[in-house]
Amino acid sequence: MSKKRQTILVFDSGVGGLTVLEPIRNARPDADYIYVADNAVFPYGELSEKVLLARVRDVFDAMIPRFTPDLVVIACHTASTLVLPMLRERFSIPFVGTVPAIKPAAEQSQSKVVAILSTRGTAQRDYTTALIRDFAQDCEVILHAPSGLASKAEAVLQGDFVSDADILADIAPCFVDHQSKRTDTIVLACTHYPLLLEAFERIAPWPVTWIDPAPAIARRIVHLMGEASAEAAPTRPIHAVFTSRLAIQPAFSAALKSYGLEKIDFISVNSAATV
Ligand code: DGL
Repeated sequence: MSKKRQTILVFDSGVGGLTVLEPIRNARPDADYIYVADNAVFPYGELSEKVLLARVRDVFDAMIPRFTPDLVVIACHTASTLVLPMLRERFSIPFVGTVPAIKPAAEQSQSKVVAILSTRGTAQRDYTTALIRDFAQDCEVILHAPSGLASKAEAVLQGDFVSDADILADIAPCFVDHQSKRTDTIVLACTHYPLLLEAFERIAPWPVTWIDPAPAIARRIVHLMGEASAEAAPTRPIHAVFTSRLAIQPAFSAALKSYGLEKIDFISVNSAATV
């Protein structure tokens, strides 16, 4: 008897979660996926903790009964570092979060100068402070949160031009050079940033190791749900939901399709955060 296909809901404030969706889908091509982007209040990194908590609660109150997923991936550091306890208390399905990969960065770094490139919200979280305290005590940690970098990643995916100079200005503070030792590892602590990785590597003042948490998240999903079955059914097109209508130009549509997102819907969610 064939098992029911499992449904995984992947969530972010925008298109950043696609960088997490991709390795998960490669690991479990036999699952069905719903991608939810709360673009109505993007960027999450600039919201207060109180507003963000209420907003994410309202989004999930609307989406969980509608899509009845078996598992949810919060593919957003800004949300994961705050909302996971609330979501786990409210819903009985598993929630997998995406939090700054500080531990592997500190372990891998030779120079022990490590930068965390995040949003403002993630940089301010107690959760992030605790990760640095617990796992990076032997490192100099540069916590850097450029306010517009996630928007630049959105623009690039939508086919707009963003100059290397603009991107370099946002990442330059991560590169610290004390002559005898300099930054050798940078944590991509916002799921939007891997969308800019090619540019980061091209314009970096010197080569560093960029840590993307997505492969570890995919391994976690396989740990929780098991390996894809041998007679895995082929991947199905992904249903994407945006909470605010946006123009889908041809370049953007092609980019979404390259991640498997074919059916796009707009479902607005009313909450205090949008008024
Ligand atoms: N992609 C999100 C993250 O990982 C945040 C981007 C935003 O500020 O909305 O933190």
